[in-house]
Amino acid sequence: MDIKKQPFGQTNDMTGVDLYKLINLNGTEARITNYGATLVALTVADRNGNPGDVILGYDSLEEYVNGSNYFGCIAGRYANRIAGGRFRLNDTAYILAQNDGENHLHGGVHGFDKAIWQARKIEKDEGLGLELTHLSQDGEEGYPGNLSVTVIYTLTDKDELRIDYSASSDRPTVVNLTNHAYFNLAGAGCGDILDHELMINADRFTPVDKSLIPTGELRSVRGTPFDFTRPTVIGARIDRDHDQLLIAQGYDHNWVLNKALGRLCPAARVMERNSGRILEVHTTQPGIQFYSGNFMGNRIAGKTGQLYHHRGGFCLETQHFPDSPNRPDFPSTVLDPGSRYEHTTMYKFTTELSVSAQ
Ligand code: BGC
Repeated sequence: MDIKKQPFGQTNDMTGVDLYKLINLNGTEARITNYGATLVALTVADRNGNPGDVILGYDSLEEYVNGSNYFGCIAGRYANRIAGGRFRLNDTAYILAQNDGENHLHGGVHGFDKAIWQARKIEKDEGLGLELTHLSQDGEEGYPGNLSVTVIYTLTDKDELRIDYSASSDRPTVVNLTNHAYFNLAGAGCGDILDHELMINADRFTPVDKSLIPTGELRSVRGTPFDFTRPTVIGARIDRDHDQLLIAQGYDHNWVLNKALGRLCPAARVMERNSGRILEVHTTQPGIQFYSGNFMGNRIAGKTGQLYHHRGGFCLETQHFPDSPNRPDFPSTVLDPGSRYEHTTMYKFTTELSVSAQ
């Protein structure tokens, strides 16, 4: 078990950025940079013990600075969309950066993905930890309050990558943090993810309007291509003539998790048959955005000379529902001074063989 630190490059204003490598007893390795608190790589064994990197990303800092796919980053202050880039809180109207048509997406033009975080190695009982902190200033991208954010990545010897998020503010504000990793369990760059088998622990999802803002309805998945309550191949229904799939050009929706708020509960499970790799996602959050990489270009130059294709990765972004600041009926994303935002998500890796051998 070890954490190694090496330089990752310099930003335009000559600030040095580092890359941290966390390696557990099984040889599973997570690479994280303090630029955007980004998960750059996650190397896990397949069923035959062969290591493979299952996260899409870039080799250089420069590509992260210029990139627009949010590969592996921590998205915030508000991950996902806020309609019209506006919300009201305690009778005050706030106007946010509009960086997705009229809407606000993933914290704006200079969201947490473009911030340089402070990093510190920590030792935890469960494994190796990297603590990243960031102070988001009052008024940044239009949000009220100085928000102090901490994200801790912990790699355990059970091949779990746990992410603990916490935040506090000196004024009432809204917060919604997530990790935006794109996974391909066959290995990053190994084709598309359409043959991965997905299960989402959700009976309902939040349908969207043409600009991907929830309509407010919590709709049953039963009898629709959104029913992943049983393991289903992602590509089986993705191109169906269904209004919600046509709007998002595939899956790009929030599912309402079947769970009690606050407890770390199973949210999703994905299996890739050739490698035998299985990813389980557990979270304390009420929702999960399943994004099937519909807006990815067809030849994105990724790590180690690999080209990433359309739908070459999927995201499972544990979160509060999109546009919650404008939806009093959705679980609240308001953070008041004196309270603490806390959220935990855990990605656990096994293989088909190791599961059946247990
Ligand atoms: C959103 C997509 C968006 C992608 C990259 C996802 O979280 O749901 O609509 O294209 O992030 O920005």
